[in-house]
Amino acid sequence: MSGAHYDAIILGAGAAGLMAALTAGQRGRRVLLVDHADEPGKKILISGGGRCNFTNIHTAADRYISENQHFARSALARYTPSDFLEMVNRHGIAWHEKTLGQLFCDHSARQIVEMLMAECRDGGVAFSFGLPVTAVDHADGMFRVTIDGREHNAPSLVLATGGLSIPKMGATGFSLDLARKFGLPVVQTRPALVPFTLGEDEALFRSLSGVSTEVITRWGKTAFREAALFTHKGLSGPAMLQISSYWQHRTAIAVDFLPDAANDWLIEEKRARPRSAFRTALSRRLPERLAEALAERLQLDGEMATLRDADLRKAQGQLARWPFHPNGTEGYAKAEVMAGGISTKALSQKTMASAKVPGLFAIGEAVDVTGWLGGYNFQWAWASGRAAGEAL
Ligand code: FDA
Repeated sequence: MSGAHYDAIILGAGAAGLMAALTAGQRGRRVLLVDHADEPGKKILISGGGRCNFTNIHTAADRYISENQHFARSALARYTPSDFLEMVNRHGIAWHEKTLGQLFCDHSARQIVEMLMAECRDGGVAFSFGLPVTAVDHADGMFRVTIDGREHNAPSLVLATGGLSIPKMGATGFSLDLARKFGLPVVQTRPALVPFTLGEDEALFRSLSGVSTEVITRWGKTAFREAALFTHKGLSGPAMLQISSYWQHRTAIAVDFLPDAANDWLIEEKRARPRSAFRTALSRRLPERLAEALAERLQLDGEMATLRDADLRKAQGQLARWPFHPNGTEGYAKAEVMAGGISTKALSQKTMASAKVPGLFAIGEAVDVTGWLGGYNFQWAWASGRAAGEAL
C-alpha cells in the first residue's frame, strides 16, 4: 500500500477532533489530524463572543437532545467539566462563571485553541490543514484518505467535521455524507439554537426590534427561563434559542411575559392605582414598547378602573401563555448548532465506534447529540472526543 501510514486519521480539527487527537497521540498512537480550513478550531475562536463558553458545570445527559436520550450519559460521565477545567487550569488560562453554570475565558477563546494544539504537539500529532480531502476509501481493513493527491492510510478513521451551521465559516455535511457512504443511518438534521422568524401577521412584534425582557418560553413540557429579544425578523435571545431546538414547524411556542407576577397581579394594580392606564400598569414589569404592543393586541385601553376584573384576569392568563406561531427560523446561516446527525444507533456509547464498520468512529456535533445553549455543546465535543481518543 502506498502513502503515509498512521494508527488513526481524524477528519476535522474542531473541538471534538482536537480532543480525540491529543488523547490518542498522548497514548502513543500515530495520529493525523486533517482540516480543510487553514487553521484549527475556527468555531472555538468565535464562540462565546470570542471568550468561548467552554463548558457548563451543570452538564447532565438530560440537557442534550437526541433520538436516544441516554446515549451521551457514558461519555459525559467519564470526561466531566472538572476534567476539562483541570486542563484549562494547568495551562494557566483565567476563567469565570458568567451565569447558569457557564464557564468562559477571561481573555480570549484563542487560548483554548492554543491549549489544545499544545496538547496535540505533546502527543506528536501530525497536522494537515488548508487542503481539501478529495477521497476517502475503505478496503482490507484500512481507510485511505486522499489529500491534495497524496494518500494517507490508517486502520481507524474518525468523523469529526461538525455540523451544518454557519456554512460561511466552512461548515459542511462531509461527515454525514461519509456516514451514509459507509451505511450508517443519519437522523434528519435541522438548525438548532436558532432565532425564529415571524410573518406579516406579527409585524407589530417585529417593530419592537432591540427590545429584550426575561420570559419563560415553553414548547410541550419543555421550558426555559431566560432573556428573549425581539428582532426585525422575529424572536431571538437565549430563551428563544433554547426552545428553538425543540420546536417543530407549524406549531406554537408559548411565552410567559410575567414570570414573577402573582396570579391576580393586574387586579391588585387596579386596586392600587385605578387612575393608571393599562399599558402603564404593564410597563411596571415590561419594557414600555413591549407593554404598548401587548396592550394593543389585548385591545385593552384606558384607565385600570374602567376595566372589568374578569377582563384583567383573562388578560393576565393570556400574558402568561402568549402564543407565537413562528413561520420558520433563520436557518443554518444563524444557527449555533445542527440537531440530528449520525444516528447513535450506529455507535458505541463507550467508544463512539461504529459496530458495522470496524475502525470507523464519529464524534462531536456530527453525531445526533445536541446540547442546550451555555457550554453544553463543547462539553459533548470534549467528552465524545475523549471517548474515541481512548479507544483509537
Ligand atoms: P467543529 O465545527 O468545531 O469542527 C469541525 C471542523 O471540521 C472544522 O474545523 C471544519 O473546518 C472542519 N471541516 C468541515 N468540513 C470539512 C471537510 N469537508 N473537510 C475537512 N474538514 C472539514 N458551543 C458551546 O458549547 N459554547 C459556546 O460558547 C458556543 N458558541 C458558539 C458560537 C457560534 C457562533 C457557533 C456557530 C457555535 C457555537 N457553539 C458553542 C457550538 C460549538 O461551536 C460546536 O458545537 C462545536 O464546535 C462542535 O465541535 P465539533 O468538533 O463537532 O465541530
